[in-house]
Amino acid sequence: MSDEPVKFLLTERDIPKHWINLLPDLPGEPLPPLNPATKEPAGPGDLTPIFPMGLIQQEVSPEPEVEIPEEVREVYKLWRPTPLYRARRLERALDTPARIYYKYEGVSPAGSHKPNTAVAQAYENAKAGIRKLCTETGAGQWGSALAFACQEFGLECEVFMVGSSYDQKPYRRSMMETWGASVHRSPSDVTEAGRSQASHPTGSLGIAISEAVEIAAQDEGTNYSLGSVLNHVLLHQTVIGQEAIAQLEQAGDEPDVVIGCVGGGSNFAGIAYPFVRRVLRDGARTRFLAAEPAACPTLTRGVYRYDFGDTVGMTPLMPMFTLGHDFVPPPVHAGGLRYHGDAPSVCGLVKAGLVEARAYKQNETFEAAVRFARTEGIIPAPEPAHAIKAVMEEAQAAKDAGDQRVILFGLCGHGNFDLAAYDAYLAGTLEDPEFSEADMEEALGRLPDVPVPA
Ligand SMILES: Cc1ncc(COP(=O)(O)O)c(C=O)c1O
Repeated sequence: MSDEPVKFLLTERDIPKHWINLLPDLPGEPLPPLNPATKEPAGPGDLTPIFPMGLIQQEVSPEPEVEIPEEVREVYKLWRPTPLYRARRLERALDTPARIYYKYEGVSPAGSHKPNTAVAQAYENAKAGIRKLCTETGAGQWGSALAFACQEFGLECEVFMVGSSYDQKPYRRSMMETWGASVHRSPSDVTEAGRSQASHPTGSLGIAISEAVEIAAQDEGTNYSLGSVLNHVLLHQTVIGQEAIAQLEQAGDEPDVVIGCVGGGSNFAGIAYPFVRRVLRDGARTRFLAAEPAACPTLTRGVYRYDFGDTVGMTPLMPMFTLGHDFVPPPVHAGGLRYHGDAPSVCGLVKAGLVEARAYKQNETFEAAVRFARTEGIIPAPEPAHAIKAVMEEAQAAKDAGDQRVILFGLCGHGNFDLAAYDAYLAGTLEDPEFSEADMEEALGRLPDVPVPA
């Protein structure tokens, strides 16, 4: 056996004690979220009907670091710190001089990065005396993470699952029910938002969010919980990048490029923001690459405008790249990436040129994922398969340029519940659904008329 290490591991004592809040370091004045009715800047009061004060304070915190409560770190111990791998077998298969590392979040109980925030959110809600959390789920990853986290803190959990994922991934539903949650196929007939969108049989994240927000807004003991996009969610995910910094130190490397997939932006922010802060503060020269589906190309084809986070227009307006809040993306298997917008801070970094975005078609991401599985062993979720495709492009570019670039990427979840998608790819029946420019233009025509400063 060689002495070459493959895994870089930390101890439970190394679980970060703080989350990193990038907002105070971002260049320029941040654009505020707006109240959807008045179009005036939204304050904490706009969020109190659906979020507990502890999370609202984190959402608007000016502090560069936010302490992680001991109770949350205790639950993190179940799977954190997560391993960092050096992808030596993939490097050899690609015959690249690049050194490729991946931070693997699939070791969490739900199989992805989502429990990092689900646990923090369930804790704050339980502390505030809330009885039930209500949410949407795309791929089923977020719903299962929240179902697990609610169990840990004695909360009920109700989940609206995007119709196309509900049909493709029945065992994600079983998983949520095992952790005690109740699950609806969205659009459902239990909310007004669902009934009004019944003509969209595949559903979308935007519709499912509207359903969950509607339930939470009607009941004082029920709060809403979001698995991405908002500042506090991105904040909670920064444990990933902080651990990666310590693990790369062990490996004696510094990343030249950090890569993640983007659905709403949380796993990307989680791995990238601790490194972005070094660029902003210390002039480090790291590049950042965000990978998204060509079928839902928010960062690469969307417009930068104020838009709603949900389909029917109940959430605050946020400044972001958007395809239009009622744009329904074609049903690709990476359900977690089928979202019309992205986190405002990620969009701001793309707009400022600090983060580069690339879009990939479904088949090329599965080709990359299968290659990864056949070398590294882990079967990736369809979402990080987009990041892996970008990694392979970078590894090829390193080979062409003859440089030893160091690539770090977020393998944010496993694909053990996504085997129907792998079946379709292996059988040659997986489609590359086209993004419709006309549908986007139509949806953009319905954006609220609120200008964003240039
Ligand atoms: C495994 C996985 N990766 C990525 C995403 C996309 O979300 P985000 O961009 O917030 O990380 C999801 C969302 O459901 C997911 O389940």
